Amino acid sequence: METKAKSSLKVALEALRKEAKAALKAAATKEDLEAVRVEYLGRKGKITAMMRGLKDVSAEERPVIGALANEIQEALSAELDSKLEALQKEELGEKLKSETIDVTMPGTYRPMGGRHPLNKVIADICKIFAGMGFEVIDDDFCPEVETEYYNFEALNFPEHHPARDMQDTYYTNVGSNVLLRSQTSNAQIRYMENNPLPIRVVSPGRVYRNEEVNSRKFVLFHQLEGLLVDDGVRFSDLKGVLHEFTRQFFEGERPTRFRTSFFPFTEPSAEVDVQCIFCSGNGCHICGHLGWLEILGAGMVDPNVLQNVGIDPNQYTGFAFGMGIERLAMLKYSINDIRLFFNNDLRFLKQFKGF
Ligand code: PHE
Repeated sequence: METKAKSSLKVALEALRKEAKAALKAAATKEDLEAVRVEYLGRKGKITAMMRGLKDVSAEERPVIGALANEIQEALSAELDSKLEALQKEELGEKLKSETIDVTMPGTYRPMGGRHPLNKVIADICKIFAGMGFEVIDDDFCPEVETEYYNFEALNFPEHHPARDMQDTYYTNVGSNVLLRSQTSNAQIRYMENNPLPIRVVSPGRVYRNEEVNSRKFVLFHQLEGLLVDDGVRFSDLKGVLHEFTRQFFEGERPTRFRTSFFPFTEPSAEVDVQCIFCSGNGCHICGHLGWLEILGAGMVDPNVLQNVGIDPNQYTGFAFGMGIERLAMLKYSINDIRLFFNNDLRFLKQFKGF
C-alpha cells in the first residue's frame, strides 16, 4: 500500500513534469507563459493539487517526494523565467528594429503657410513710419466696437452733422451709441487722452462701412492712422512725411498729388492720390478714368479736437492722416479687386508666400 502510494505519486509527479515541460515548449507568447505558470505553479495549480496526496505517503517517503515536488517546481519556475526573458528580448529587438529611422528616406512634406498680404503690407508700412520716429500702437489699443463719442463726436462731427453720412456706419444693438468704427481716427482721441506731448504715433487696424461691395469697396477694410502733435508742427511737415512715405513704400518716386478736401477733424484737409499704376494716368475702370487713385486723407488737427482732449490749440499744432491699406497693397502689387484679400483663395494667397 505504502509502496504503491509512494510510487504512484512519484510517477504522477514525473508525468506532470513532462506535461509541464511540453506546455512550456509550446508557449509562444507572454500570455501563454503566464497560463502555464498558473496551471502548474499557481496556488490552485496542478502541482499543489497533487501534493495533497502527500498525506497518504509514509513518513519516511514523504520528505523524498516533497523534495521531488520542490525540485520540479523550482526547475519549472526557472525555465519559465528564462523563456520569458528571451521573449521580452525578442520583443524589444523587434520594437527597436521597427522604430529605426532611415535618414535617407524622403521626409514628410508639410506645407508651409505664408503671411497674409495685408499683414505683410501693414508690417512694411509700420516699418517705414518707425524709421521716421513714429511709435506703432498695438492693434488692440483701440476697440473696433466703439462709441459714437470716439468715432465721431470727439473728432468734431456734431450730432446730425451730414459729415457722418460720409461714412456709412454700422450701428450695433448693444446700445444706440455703439457702432463698428468707420475709421481708425478714434485712435487719435484715445491716444491723446492718455499720453503726454509730444505725440508721434501710427495705429493700424480694421474699420467697417456699409458700402456696396465692388472691386474697389468692401464692408471691411484696414486703415493706418497717423498722428503727430507738438510745438510748431506745420502743413509742410505733413507733406514731407507723406512724400517720404510714398517714396519708400513704392520703392522710388511715383507721381503723387495733394488735393484739398474736407474732414471735420482736420483743417485744412487734403487727400493724397497716387498715379494709377494700371493705366499710368491714362484713365481706366479701376481709377474711374481719373488717372489717379486716392490712398489717404490727411490734414492739420482741428483746434476743436485738440481742445476735446485738453491740449491747448494756441500752443500746439499737429497733423493726422489715415491711409487705406488695401488700396496701397493693390497699387503696389497690381491687385485689381479688393475682394481677393477676403476670399481666402489659396491661389491668390500663395502668390505672396515668402514676401
Ligand atoms: N478718417 C478719415 C477717413 O477714413 C481719414 C483721415 C484720417 C483724414 C486722419 C484726416 C486725418 O476717411
